[in-house]
Amino acid sequence: MYKIFDTPHEASQYTARRLLTKVQAKADSALGLATGSTMEPVYANFIQLLKQASVDISRLTTFNLDEYIGLGGEHAQSYRYYMNQHLFHKLNLSGERVNLPDGTAENAKQACQAYSEGIQAAGGLDLQLLGIGSNGHIGFNEPYTCFSSRTHVIELSEQTRLDNGRFFANPNEVPTQAITMGIQDILEAREVILMAIGPKKAGIMAELFHGEVDEALPASALKRHGNVTFVLDREAAALLPGEVLERVVG
Ligand code: F6R
Repeated sequence: MYKIFDTPHEASQYTARRLLTKVQAKADSALGLATGSTMEPVYANFIQLLKQASVDISRLTTFNLDEYIGLGGEHAQSYRYYMNQHLFHKLNLSGERVNLPDGTAENAKQACQAYSEGIQAAGGLDLQLLGIGSNGHIGFNEPYTCFSSRTHVIELSEQTRLDNGRFFANPNEVPTQAITMGIQDILEAREVILMAIGPKKAGIMAELFHGEVDEALPASALKRHGNVTFVLDREAAALLPGEVLERVVG
């Protein structure tokens, strides 16, 4: 299902409302979370909605998609730091209820296996939030990642390192590797929301819309999932066919 909004603000409000509805319907929800610029306004809106509705989130569990290898949680570009700043600290979420892959684990392979097992032990993900890379990655599953993959170590593509260079003082500091939840882990989530915002995502969203299911385009795996919502603003949707654009809801 496509939901296309006039503005990024409306798109992020929609996604935040979906998160709220999920948590209201199931207090012990396990949410799969993403980082990146697309998600910042989503979390800001979500926090506001939770507070307005006085929702009890003490039974909520979260699992983030990915983390850079070599960056500890105190590093300002680590995804743990991002989540603390944008969501966890603001909601007093901590401890065992918040999970991110450990980019500093001594035994990364073991940490990866434990991460996927942890998701399963929590009963699976009720809702997985995704952004999309300009190369079609979801999480850090880069092109040609096996669709049956579980949490694993990945070599970041040049495109991703280039795209994410904007967050680092020196773009060469972008780590070369990350740990990411696998595509199979993502596909097992009961519900998925993929968000794409802004003109830089228009090309990949058109490719995804028209293309086949193919490991060259990781997000195409979602076409095999029965409950995905693609949430776009007008700019990210600009190259989609007219009949999809007519369904603008914002
Ligand atoms: C981040 C993640 C990535 C991003 C994607 C888009 O946890 O998993 O797949 O969602 O790179 O990033 P932004 O939103 O910064 O364009």
